[in-house]
Amino acid sequence: MSNQKKNEENRMEQIVALCKRRGFLFQSSEIYGGVNGFWDYGPLGTELKRNVRNAWWEDMVSTHDELSCLENAPKPFAMVGLESSIIMHPQVWKCSGHYDLFHDFMVDCTESKKRYRFDHMRGRWAEAERKTKSEGSDEVTVETVKAFITSMEPGEEVEESITAHALKFFGLKSKYRDKINWLSEVLPISSIDNLQEAVAPEATRKGTLTEPREFNLMFKTTLGALGGADDAAFLRPETAQGIFVNFKNVVDSSRVKIPFGIAQIGKSFRNEITPRNFTFRSREFEQMEIEFFCHPDESSQWYEYWRSRRFNWYTSLGIAAEHLILREHHQEELAHYSVGTADIEYAFPFLSEGEYGELEGVAHRGDFDLRSHMEGKLDSDLNVELNEHGQPKHRGSGKDLSYFDDQARQRFVPHVIEPSAGADRGTLAFLCEAYQQDEQPDDKGKMQSRTVLKLHPRLAPVKAAVFPLIKKEGMPEVAAKIYHEFREAGINAQYDQQGAIGRRYRRQDEIGTPFCITVDGQTANDQTVTLRDRDTLEQERIPIKKVTEEIQSRLGR
Ligand code: GAP
Repeated sequence: MSNQKKNEENRMEQIVALCKRRGFLFQSSEIYGGVNGFWDYGPLGTELKRNVRNAWWEDMVSTHDELSCLENAPKPFAMVGLESSIIMHPQVWKCSGHYDLFHDFMVDCTESKKRYRFDHMRGRWAEAERKTKSEGSDEVTVETVKAFITSMEPGEEVEESITAHALKFFGLKSKYRDKINWLSEVLPISSIDNLQEAVAPEATRKGTLTEPREFNLMFKTTLGALGGADDAAFLRPETAQGIFVNFKNVVDSSRVKIPFGIAQIGKSFRNEITPRNFTFRSREFEQMEIEFFCHPDESSQWYEYWRSRRFNWYTSLGIAAEHLILREHHQEELAHYSVGTADIEYAFPFLSEGEYGELEGVAHRGDFDLRSHMEGKLDSDLNVELNEHGQPKHRGSGKDLSYFDDQARQRFVPHVIEPSAGADRGTLAFLCEAYQQDEQPDDKGKMQSRTVLKLHPRLAPVKAAVFPLIKKEGMPEVAAKIYHEFREAGINAQYDQQGAIGRRYRRQDEIGTPFCITVDGQTANDQTVTLRDRDTLEQERIPIKKVTEEIQSRLGR
């Protein structure tokens, strides 16, 4: 394993440990052993994630000025919000394509009763010779055995662990590791027969894997008490569809004119087969989505605009541009209706060197969604089943979702640009980016290692901490007064009088508090306090009566 990879893995472990220790994130239902793919945000995590959501909402919606043209925007536009329900009419998911197409291929192991995602099994096979004695004879036969091993991300250490797995399975001593012959081809889904030759990860014999089957990722639930087949409903796998089905309502009720965007933040649910990498792939997560409606002739310009605007949003909140990429999808990755999609990806520490994980997708969706909800799916590329009249089985709403431009006297079905971000992935990326360890002198000038979250002040869960240097000489009273004033001004502050001042600073550094205020011996004489900056470590004296104003201005309020 390379040192860099080891360091990154350590770094991720340290971040996970910090999240638990300081109350950012806990496993859901932990006291019952947890439930895979679900997470609870503790007191600090709740503040951090709320700040991420608020920053997104403020920057995309509430501070958006529809009369002014933003830099690089083709023209001024309006942004409005929406909060749609999690459970929607089942027909929504038929017309969106999720009912027919939102699935993974799965294989089951009949021996271990475990289920595996087929595309996560990279088709790594190993062949080895195993010497066995046939019963009742001294004759030794040589058997060739193949192993089929679940994939992890490729890399040196994966080869190592698969080799170890294979040696164990074949009962070979490690000196026979050279006898293992790797078959490197990635098996196509059609090579089902080969699965019968395979050994599932937790099986003791070959041939226990079933054929790959489709497994829909939507969580199913039942409406009402009777629970018949017609009462089946789904938890939404994306917030976007709530926006499309309300397009007409918003146009008719808020008098917005195209181009405009509708934004929504809310929970989505996907029954992910292999939730992993902390909150990165969860089964319940939050999305921050914009559906931007525009004239078809202008959609390419708006696509360019949103790609760069959304990329810049992450850098404006402290993610270094060199840790982010804007990855344009290849032609074969694109949904058939999509003119272009770009992912904004971040170099998460749990990934291998040079790999990035998706934070947000910016998709040019053409008029696909509105048209599907109007007419149903008419596109033969989707292999949509037709009924006996040759019409698509999943009919749309039949409602007219086109738009009439009263100035141009033109009717059209708008095109959609969709910047779709994950609030949990964003929060995780901000945490990973902020996590640092450095060395700082303690109270006695001795160098001590310090863990610090260099979160952008807008995102920091606690904005300021107030300390009396000692618990006497009137210092606690003055510090408490400043603390009350911060709270009244809506500044999330903490008061701490426990332990040496250096330890108090370190406690705050570890949770990313950007500013610490200390009331000390000089305060009684000149009515000033020290203000210490988390990142520069500079300490300045500020008059008490200006301290709230100073913090507010440093927070950019
Ligand atoms: N409406 C488009 C859409 O939902 P997506 O790429 O499937 O597109 C958008 O999801 C974003 O939602 C992703 O970029 C990611 O940030 C977040 N997301 C998707 N699945 C997730 C999961 N299982 N856990 C956490 N976040 C997820």
